[in-house]
Amino acid sequence: MKNIYSNIYSFNKKSYKKTIKALKKGNIVSLPTETVYGLAGNAYSQKSINKIFNLKKRPSYNPLIIHYHDLKKTYNDIVLNKYFLKLYKKFCPGPLTFILKKNKNSRVVSSATANLRTIAIRFPNNRKIRAILKILDFPLAMPSANISSSLSPVTAYDVYEEFKNKVKIIINGGKSKVGIESTVIDLTEKPKILRPGIISSQQIKNCLKVNFSKRKSKIKSPGMLKKHYSPGIPIILGKKPSNDNYAFIVYGKKFKNKKNYFNLSKKADLTEAAANLYKTMRKIKKLGFKKIFVTKIPNIGAGIAINDRLTRASR
Ligand code: TXA
Ligand code: MG
Repeated sequence: MKNIYSNIYSFNKKSYKKTIKALKKGNIVSLPTETVYGLAGNAYSQKSINKIFNLKKRPSYNPLIIHYHDLKKTYNDIVLNKYFLKLYKKFCPGPLTFILKKNKNSRVVSSATANLRTIAIRFPNNRKIRAILKILDFPLAMPSANISSSLSPVTAYDVYEEFKNKVKIIINGGKSKVGIESTVIDLTEKPKILRPGIISSQQIKNCLKVNFSKRKSKIKSPGMLKKHYSPGIPIILGKKPSNDNYAFIVYGKKFKNKKNYFNLSKKADLTEAAANLYKTMRKIKKLGFKKIFVTKIPNIGAGIAINDRLTRASR
């Protein structure tokens, strides 16, 4: 059967080799991670970084996350830090991104980190991307594989929807398990969460045994400023829609099954709800609804990350 998505590849020896070859040549590919799909390029190559910013239409002031296989591969790019080492041991590979001081000798191109003195690094936990990172002698700069400010993709088909054939290789890794982007923690000063995720601030506090900084973020995470994670239709939070022509995102078992109701988790599991969030918003948009209403989601654990994304999408 002819695959209409000629750029979506299942992961096997052949596509693995093709991907490595493309990355070594400075080309951009889309890879699955446990959080969302990413748009990957050689972090040591100016040409690759330019391509990523252009493809995503990403403003140059918004730095990228640099992805590594393991700690050893980071040594030349970062300044080590005791909190980082503790969290690395506990949570990595996994959905956690660290903001650290960038090493003066780092080969990560300056524009990848938006000319900052800091660098965001992550160790994704997905068999396919780990096999790729392991063999490369450079790390991968990898933002979420969506056009800037739209919804992050959680399947290879979502990536296709964003970029069509502009990305030549999309590795199909099924649906991303976590379903929302990694937690971002700034460790350059007293620890501070810049982007909530599935690894909660409580889990991190338990591991570090320190209190977090209360400082107001002075634009520490440039990407968190504007409207973001948007399905491109209005979102109204904490309210029921006035009629059935609007979509209603619900949570928990007290809601009926109705054509315009979309339940993030019938069993009221916030982790499951997070995993279903982007998928559900994309589906609603495709079905042609003109507005999305969302019921109140408990603001604890993964609910904090869900509410963060919903609030930004509703701006
Ligand atoms: O789960 C994830 O983190 C996904 C997958 C593909 O790994 N990646 C991802 O990348 O979400 P992106 O580019 O969509 O989001 C990166 C976030 C942005 O909000 C950016 O501003 C912030 O990390 N960031 C990157 N470098 C930073 C730095 N040096 N200081 C502060 N924030 C930084
Ligand atoms: Mg993103």
